Formats: sequence, structure tokens, C-alpha cells
Amino acid sequence: MGSNINNLNENQRDTFSGKFGFILACIGSAIGMGNIWMFPWRVGKFGGAAFLIPYFLFVFILGTTGLMEEFALGRTTKRGALGALKAIFEEKKIPGAAVLGYIPVIGGAGIAIGYAVVVGWTLKYFIASISGSLLNVNAGEYFGSFAGTINASPWHIAAIILTLAILARGVSQGIEKVNKIIMPAFFVLFIILMIRSLTLEGANAGIEYLLVPDWSYLAKPITWVMALGQAFFTVSLGGSGMVAYGSYIKDDVDIPSSAVNTAVFDTLGAMIAAFTIIPAVFAFGLDPTAGPPLLFISLPMVFQQMAFGHLFAIVFFIAIIFAAVSSLLNLVEIPTEAIIHRFNISRKKASIIMGIIMLVVGTPIVLDVDLLGKWMDFVSIYILPLGAVITAIAFFWIYGMDRAREQINLGAKKPVGKWFNFVGKYVFVFVAVAVFILGIVYGGIG
Ligand code: TRP
Repeated sequence: MGSNINNLNENQRDTFSGKFGFILACIGSAIGMGNIWMFPWRVGKFGGAAFLIPYFLFVFILGTTGLMEEFALGRTTKRGALGALKAIFEEKKIPGAAVLGYIPVIGGAGIAIGYAVVVGWTLKYFIASISGSLLNVNAGEYFGSFAGTINASPWHIAAIILTLAILARGVSQGIEKVNKIIMPAFFVLFIILMIRSLTLEGANAGIEYLLVPDWSYLAKPITWVMALGQAFFTVSLGGSGMVAYGSYIKDDVDIPSSAVNTAVFDTLGAMIAAFTIIPAVFAFGLDPTAGPPLLFISLPMVFQQMAFGHLFAIVFFIAIIFAAVSSLLNLVEIPTEAIIHRFNISRKKASIIMGIIMLVVGTPIVLDVDLLGKWMDFVSIYILPLGAVITAIAFFWIYGMDRAREQINLGAKKPVGKWFNFVGKYVFVFVAVAVFILGIVYGGIG
């Protein structure tokens, strides 16, 4: 269909069994630490409801555009970012440019390596909430004696093994099956938690923190920079993760509608997380601080003081594990897919190689919380946006906007019209470049 680079030697590439499994896997990828950890405090910090205006704008205009681009790029070439860019550049007889395909893959792998460390922490906190030990400790000391030390190592290894055991089973039997269970469960559990949090005495201060708009923030560039970085990271844009998932869908999957669904549920997940975490933190007079302290120190303190805190702690940490693991599956799939096709080896072998890489490169990060922060900043500020820009240019400019739109519209009930050419080719690409430059200037978005 209008393309001579699709269906490269595709005999039996594993696929999502249907649209529902694909969408749930995408929502699983989108909802993660970006929603639960970063979004709640950012809303409060950058003007409350005022922040939501640029954020919604970016998620629903640029986020959906980027998602459509990544899904269609993957589906057209039946390859992840590395193979997809190679196919596009070779078709245009600029094969040297194919090395650019390594950038989005390295970005995905980089985030995966840091993310696995945090998933390890959530596993530890889940077990500690079951045993109840989390309920009887000084939360600050507990975190300090664990994170950044060798004690975190076994949990890091457990996170890697858990993720790769799922990934090694493949797309339909691994990624899809797990997401179909854990993502609906995530929503059910978090809605229960949100109701509990909103009905706590003193929750109002937290609701105000999130909702009272401080319009002056709209005049500050940093608000827009943060909203943009947040929007890109949270829907999983980096020119990699959604290309990989898109490479496993059939031509009847409705790409525009999948993109909108991913953006809507991702936003819902972020709002539910914010309205769970912030009111609870305020109800117990704690600080809505950024970074590790929020989930791993402030919330355990909340559970210690709350009626039935033991039960809610268990529910909370299992829901966080669901959100985090479903994102990590997407992140690790990026380099895994690239290894499988670059070296023509089995998924099992590629998973083992990835496990070793994550362990070796990740261990110094396990042992140093500061390094974890620096690593995640570096990858999310410099490499991810660069990957997003490179793939967008490759698909919209090099492959060509009309053909790109044709691929996006394959299987779509409501195809995107000609207006999309402008949004994709100019608005998305230039704003993505802007994220990259502003990210460097402001040093830390995403
Ligand atoms: N969206 C996830 C989160 O909010 C992170 C994530 C998963 C991601 N896959 C990605 C980010 C691919 C960039 C690219 O935590």
C-alpha cells in the first residue's frame, strides 16, 4: 500500500492478538513513574490548575501526533526504531544516516537501566508493606539505609528477572497478557486509593494545591518547558518505545484512535495519582516534595498514621509495581527488539543479554542515588528528545508526509485529514526541537 519498504522479510513476527491488547500495552507503557512520581508535584509547583493548560495542550496535540507517528513508523517497517530508520534511509539512498537509529534505542535503553533500579525499590517496599515492617520504622532512615546501598541490589536483580521473564515470552504471550491484567487492576486499585485519600480529614489543602490556579505561571517559560517535557515523557515519546509496539500491530488497528486512547488514559492515570498522593500528604501535614522522598518517605509516613494504613500500603505499592513494570516492559523491549534484529538471535538470548547489560550498567546506579538522578536527567533531557526529533524527521520529512499519513490512516475509522501534514511536519518537529533546546537551557525536563 503506497509503500515499498514495509513487510521486510516478515514471516512470523509476533503480533498483539488484537486492538484491545495493543491499547492496554500502550497505556501500560504510558502510565508509569512519570505520572505517579513527577506529575503530582509538578502540577502543584508550576501553578496548580494553570499548569494543566499547557500540559493538556501538549499531550492532546503533540502527544497524539507523536504517538501516531511512532505507531505508524513501526507498523510500516515492521521494525523498531533501529530497523525502521535503516529502512527509510536506505530507501532514499542515504544509508550512512542509518546510524541515527541507534540514538532512540540508546535513549530507551538508558531510561530502562535507571527505571529498573526504581522498580527494585518498589518491590522492596511492597514486600515490606506486606510484612508490616514498613509501618514501624522511621521512614527517612529506612530509605536512607536501603537506597544507594548494596541492600538494594537483590531487589534490582529481582526487577530485572521479573521484567525479562515476561519479555522473553514474547509480545502476545508476555507483554500483552500481563498488561491485560495489571492495567485494569491498576485503575481499580488507584480509584480505591483516591477515594480514601480524598475523604481524609484535611485533604482539602491538597486539593487546593492541585486546583487553585496561579495564572502568573503561564507567563513563565519554565512552566511551558516543564509541561512539554512532562507531556512527552509521560506518553512515552522518544522515537522508540511506541515504534516497537507499533511494529507488532496489524493493518486493521486504528492508529489515530489508539493514540487518542493512550493520551486520554495516560492523563486520567496522572490525575488519579495526583488526587491520591497530594491530598494524603497534605492531610498528614507533610511536604509534597519532589523526587525519591515523596513515594518512599512521605507516603510510608502517611500509611503509618492512617487507619487501615497497613492494607492501603499494600494496595498502593502493588499498584505502583503494576504501573512501573508495564512501563519497564516497553522500555526494555526497545533494545531487546533491536538486538534480536541486528544480530538475528532469538528473543530468549536477547533477553539474557539485556539482563546482563542492565545488571552491569545499572549496578553503579543502584549504589548511588545521586548518580541515578543525574543519569535519568541526562538521558531524558538530551537523548530521548533527540530520538523523538530524529524519528519524526525521518518519517514525516524523509519518508514523506503524504505516505506517512496514508500509513497512519490505514485501518482508521476517522482518518486524519490534510491538516495533519502541517501539524506533523512543522508543529510537531519544531516543538520537538524546542523541547530539546529548552531542555538543555533549563537543564532538567521530562
Ligand atoms: N511513560 C513512562 C512513564 O511515564 C515512561 C516510558 C515508558 C517511556 N516507555 C517510554 C518514556 C518510552 C520515553 C520513551 O513513566
